[in-house]
Amino acid sequence: MAHQVRGVVARSKGAPVAVETVLVPDPGPGEALVRVRACGVCHTDLHYREGAINDAFPFLLGHEAAGTVEAVGDGVEGLAAGDTVVIAWRDPCGTCRSCRRGRPWYCFASRNARQRMTLADGTPLSAALGIGAFAELTLVAAGQAVKVDPAARPEAAGLIGCGVMAGFGAAVTTGGVGRGDTVAVFGCGGVGDAAIAGASLAGARRVIAVDVDPRKLEWARRFGATDTIDASATDPVEAIRGLTDGVGADVVIEAVGTPATYRQAFYARDHAGTVVLVGVPNPAALLELPLVEIFGRGGALKSSWYGDCLPSRDFPILIDLYRRGKLDLDGFVSETIGLDDVEAAFARMQRGEVLRSVVVL
Ligand SMILES: NC(=O)c1ccc[n+]([C@@H]2O[C@H](COP(=O)([O-])OP(=O)(O)OC[C@H]3O[C@@H](n4cnc5c(N)ncnc54)[C@H](O)[C@@H]3O)[C@@H](O)[C@H]2O)c1
Ligand SMILES: [Zn+2]
Ligand SMILES: [Zn+2]
Repeated sequence: MAHQVRGVVARSKGAPVAVETVLVPDPGPGEALVRVRACGVCHTDLHYREGAINDAFPFLLGHEAAGTVEAVGDGVEGLAAGDTVVIAWRDPCGTCRSCRRGRPWYCFASRNARQRMTLADGTPLSAALGIGAFAELTLVAAGQAVKVDPAARPEAAGLIGCGVMAGFGAAVTTGGVGRGDTVAVFGCGGVGDAAIAGASLAGARRVIAVDVDPRKLEWARRFGATDTIDASATDPVEAIRGLTDGVGADVVIEAVGTPATYRQAFYARDHAGTVVLVGVPNPAALLELPLVEIFGRGGALKSSWYGDCLPSRDFPILIDLYRRGKLDLDGFVSETIGLDDVEAAFARMQRGEVLRSVVVL
């Protein structure tokens, strides 16, 4: 039997999102039905509604969620009704070429629910990142539902499901930030600030926050930025060099996703340093760089998909850091809103007024 719930749907490219009736099937084998408690508004949801991810409209948006398991399908072990979970968009298959080589964070066949959620007329919905959690109930692969300590507030815990994990992992795992490193982070939204928090916890001695919005820079300090640069007023490359004995940062995280900021990140890096691209570029974006500079500067140019995380390993670690007061997840929650407010939250995100708006159900 399908459950009739309210969900936030993007019908076509660029059109405002709206709350619609969504039909959510009961869980089949290997699936879990999750009652969503909270779901953050991530910039990637906006990318979906702008058609910048793919054209598989209509989308059921929302993918940064915490909730409670309502029911599980046949064959599901280690997860039961009533469990508190954070939903992951990666559930490694264990058998693809990457999983078999011991690199499940690059899994090429990550699992999602087999059954589709639909509109009331039966039109299949594409769930954003295989989740679709701006809805009262959502259907996922059981392995996407990662059990966490129920004591964590859902508004805060859900953010680990995407932006916080992506930024934290981009710094700590992909970028390998360690004790004594100098780090620069371009873009201080939810993702960039999580990178700042991760770099600080990993022992970076200097964490330089770069944004074009002074409010974002102020907030970045709360997460551990030691220095801030307003790139709308100063050349950030020169400013970063000025703060690093003229040489640039060891690790530069790009959390905007544009060629201009990537180029700045590239030149703000010390020789043999690392650039990590975690911002998602528009498919039309092109980058031109002198090949000799890529060669001559050495080091590593990396991309970070979801912070190279293993959700079942890393979500509980981040929740523990939160519970111990080391990772300020509450600091990311700028406001709590209802399902009807997602379109307005996109506008507030674009105006830079919020770090995260979180839908509470
Ligand atoms: N790789 C992944 O796995 C992953 C996961 C989640 C999100 N993302 C992506 O990360 C990016 C950031 O997401 P978010 O939710 O933090 O978005 P956001 O909109 O909250 O933050 C982006 C920040 O970049 C700043 N910015 C814009 N132009 C700039 C410039 N020229 N120089 C410096 N800063 C600039 C904005 O002021 C803003 O503070 C998005 O592209 C999102 O899609 C990637
Ligand atoms: Zn795999
Ligand atoms: Zn996201």
